[in-house]
Amino acid sequence: MDTPAPVPAEERNSGTLTYALLAIVLVVAAIFALNSTAVPNHWYGLFKAIHVTFAVLWVGGGAMITILAIVAERANDPLHIAQVARQAATVGEKFFAPVGLVTFLMGLAMMFNTNWGWGKFWVVIGLVGYAATFAIGIGLIAPTVKKLQAMIEAKGPTDPDAIALIKRVMLITRVDSALLLLVVLDMVTKPFS
Ligand code: HEM
Repeated sequence: MDTPAPVPAEERNSGTLTYALLAIVLVVAAIFALNSTAVPNHWYGLFKAIHVTFAVLWVGGGAMITILAIVAERANDPLHIAQVARQAATVGEKFFAPVGLVTFLMGLAMMFNTNWGWGKFWVVIGLVGYAATFAIGIGLIAPTVKKLQAMIEAKGPTDPDAIALIKRVMLITRVDSALLLLVVLDMVTKPFS
């Protein structure tokens, strides 16, 4: 039977440091949220802390993917573009989708813990924005990525049809990122309310 290769000490230390930092952030976040003086109650403070932190990870991550895609496109290197597209597809499904869902649920949780009212412009834009990004993800990005994966398997990432499809996915994610930024601006400024 093969004995598993030992994990190098450097890798172990890096993992320990990551978990330690995460634990510190979680503890400080809970202390801040539960002692906030700018929210109606503790629950609202906790939901808002999670809502905004997850929104930052979601929208910031989306913006970073967009920047990487633009850099790859400018370099005009098909393998680099395909690599960014593959990474975007993985984080989109495994990270952005659940993080976006938590952001949305925390938004709803705040609404149930306050008397803002559902008819305010900024709330409607938040709901419509989430519905739109959800529809774009399920209806446009997911099927195009599936088609793309099959095409790359059949023809390789440098095939002109695959490159055209990759550029299409990148364009859709760019629109999605712009939409999310608009929702953030709407939430921060709360216009017409
Ligand atoms: C596309 C998804 C969303 C993103 C990226 C997002 C982002 C944000 C951000 C950045 C804030 C902080 C604003 C500030 O404190 O100045 C915020 C606050 C808030 N969001 Fe969202 N949001 C989203 C969806 C929603 C939804 C669907 C709802 C519920 C209808 C919602 C309800 C709220 C509430 C109640 C606040 C707190 C307002 C306050 O206490 O001042 N959000 N959101």
